Amino acid sequence: MRAPEMLFQFTLVAALLAATLSAQEFPIAKAGCQDRCGNVTIPYPFGLTDDCYYDAEFLITCNHTFNPPKAYITASTINVTEITLEGKLHIEQYIAKDCYNESGRARRNSPYLMLGKFIISDADNIFVSIGCDTVATLNGNLEAAGLNKTVYQVGCTSLCDSLKYVPNDTCSGIGCCRTSLAKGVNSINVTITSQKNHTGILGFSPCSYAFIIEEKKFNFSKSKLWDLENVDKLPMVVDWSIGNNSCAEVKKSGMYNACQGNSTCYDPDNGNGYRCRCLDGYRGNPYLPNGCLDIDECTDATINHNCTHICTNSEGNYTCSCPKGYHGDGEKNGDGCIRRQSLVIQIVVDLSCDIKEDRLIHILQDCMVNQDNMRQVKEVANIAKKCIRIRGEERPSMKEVAMELEGIRTSAKHPWTNDEPNVEETEYLLGKSMEIVGFEEMASTSAGYHSLQLIHSLGGGR
Ligand SMILES: *[C@@H]1O[C@H](CO)[C@@H](O)[C@H](O)[C@H]1NC(C)=O
Ligand SMILES: *[C@@H]1O[C@H](CO)[C@@H](O)[C@H](O)[C@H]1NC(C)=O
Ligand SMILES: *[C@@H]1O[C@H](CO)[C@@H](O)[C@H](O)[C@H]1NC(C)=O
Ligand SMILES: *[C@@H]1O[C@H](CO)[C@@H](O)[C@H](O)[C@H]1NC(C)=O
Ligand SMILES: *[C@@H]1O[C@H](CO)[C@@H](O)[C@H](O)[C@H]1NC(C)=O
Ligand SMILES: *[C@@H]1O[C@H](CO)[C@@H](O)[C@H](O)[C@H]1NC(C)=O
Ligand SMILES: *[C@@H]1O[C@H](CO)[C@@H](O)[C@H](O)[C@H]1NC(C)=O
Ligand SMILES: *[C@@H]1O[C@H](CO)[C@@H](O)[C@H](O)[C@H]1NC(C)=O
Ligand SMILES: *[C@@H]1O[C@H](CO)[C@@H](O)[C@H](O)[C@H]1NC(C)=O
Ligand SMILES: *[C@@H]1O[C@H](CO)[C@@H](O)[C@H](O)[C@H]1NC(C)=O
Ligand SMILES: *[C@@H]1O[C@H](CO)[C@@H](O)[C@H](O)[C@H]1NC(C)=O
Ligand SMILES: *[C@@H]1O[C@H](CO)[C@@H](O)[C@H](O)[C@H]1NC(C)=O
Repeated sequence: MRAPEMLFQFTLVAALLAATLSAQEFPIAKAGCQDRCGNVTIPYPFGLTDDCYYDAEFLITCNHTFNPPKAYITASTINVTEITLEGKLHIEQYIAKDCYNESGRARRNSPYLMLGKFIISDADNIFVSIGCDTVATLNGNLEAAGLNKTVYQVGCTSLCDSLKYVPNDTCSGIGCCRTSLAKGVNSINVTITSQKNHTGILGFSPCSYAFIIEEKKFNFSKSKLWDLENVDKLPMVVDWSIGNNSCAEVKKSGMYNACQGNSTCYDPDNGNGYRCRCLDGYRGNPYLPNGCLDIDECTDATINHNCTHICTNSEGNYTCSCPKGYHGDGEKNGDGCIRRQSLVIQIVVDLSCDIKEDRLIHILQDCMVNQDNMRQVKEVANIAKKCIRIRGEERPSMKEVAMELEGIRTSAKHPWTNDEPNVEETEYLLGKSMEIVGFEEMASTSAGYHSLQLIHSLGGGR
């Protein structure tokens, strides 16, 4: 095989290899265990059977009489719709309702929720009541306080005589009331009462409703005053963690730590216990042995690596570099990759020109498009500024400009300082090119024409 063909084949193989690797799935459940129940993914420490969960609290019951099958927390009736490895359990919970007709109260329910090990997320949920004759109360147990009785109560009241005072799209207190939740609550009761049996408002608000709901999924509209009658359950978020001890306590007592390789332990900000997280640059399930695998930042479509030119993956990280003939760290937020020669020519060209401000902006834009580094852009701008400020005859001579460029280049902070082959370029400018195109001549005649000449002479001379 000839060399170019081989190279082509090699890049093809490399590209295919990269594609398969980035498409690779990370392990979700323990080896040999089911990782789905209907549409719900079940990641370890959760599991569907004895050998598949971390401990009995993480059992998920899958009811196959439904199609698709439905997932429940342990043996409860609490419906699970999503489990995340960030310690969130998405569930559905009944709405509390209190409905009236002309003869008074028609029906009422006061649902409760007991989560045991799991804690209602204060960060993700809100408590909402809806109705125009509504007094709703939320009673909760504070798990974190280590107590066994209702120690927490919050209420929400909303009264209104007419639909016209109810804003259509904001839960403002008229027809809708919302409040935040406390931390550490693992069981709740919701009860609703009315003050006037909805007398006079039955036409638009026959019922009162109260519920905890995931804030992101809640939008109020007037129609909720009657629409919710047909809704049974709403989405809510629950926090989960391992055990009752913090990371520090587990470490200190030498207890078993569920966090596996390439991962780290952290304390949840709601409730007891600890959680695990893959280290930066790794992805997967931190609760499984060999669960956190290196991310190939260079090929992963979900990651924006910060390399301008060449990206090389490494264990837990990646590095940027520049192609041959370029200098810099190759990073978007750093120096990027700079082609020094073209920059020098540009500076010289534009100093030799009758530089106009809009032209300067053009150059700077070019520099940024080429992802040249900001420091250099600034220095170009500084030289250009001098040119703009100084009147024609006071302008720096070509030699001075070239020396200034040399100064930029040799200042130690520049990555392209130690690049030997390009030293000759400045020497060339200081010496020979000075004789080819004099600065005086350029200032007095058409700048565009001469700067073109300069490029030609520089390019041709090399
Ligand atoms: C469950 O998955 C099936 C097939 O992937 C899909 O058709 C259905 O809409 C999903 N149901 C829910 C509730 O997400
Ligand atoms: C599944 O759900 C059906 C309907 O609600 C119920 O009758 C049945 O007992 C459930 N099965 C299990 C194994 O929980
Ligand atoms: C329960 O969870 C399933 C997903 O497992 C979802 O499709 C369904 O809508 C949920 N709600 C109810 C009321 O069953
Ligand atoms: C509300 O209805 C109940 C019966 O359901 C009745 O006992 C009570 O007096 C009524 N209260 C008002 C304020 O109408
Ligand atoms: C009011 O609701 C109760 C209970 O559902 C029902 O028995 C009664 O007939 C209803 N009254 C009217 C006037 O609709
Ligand atoms: C908590 O409540 C349960 C059931 O009501 C009871 O058996 C238990 O003794 C109580 N624990 C404490 C510490 O009060
Ligand atoms: C109120 O909002 C709902 C949902 O955003 C919309 O469908 C309805 O047209 C709005 N009604 C009025 C009167 O603005
Ligand atoms: C809520 O009510 C249920 C049933 O009435 C009761 O068993 C439970 O202890 C109550 N929980 C709270 C937190 O008040
Ligand atoms: C809530 O309203 C916003 C803006 O109108 C919309 O983008 C969003 O999808 C709505 N969310 C829900 C859960 O309806
Ligand atoms: C850490 O990540 C590397 C790279 O993906 C993998 O080969 C290794 O098995 C992981 N180590 C552990 C202990 O999980
Ligand atoms: C890229 O840079 C941005 C801004 O500095 C940073 O937030 C982001 O994490 C970087 N991306 C990677 C993959 O390192
Ligand atoms: C990855 O490498 C960059 C420099 O290339 C460094 O700034 C960063 O801290 C590294 N990240 C990790 C997680 O080691």
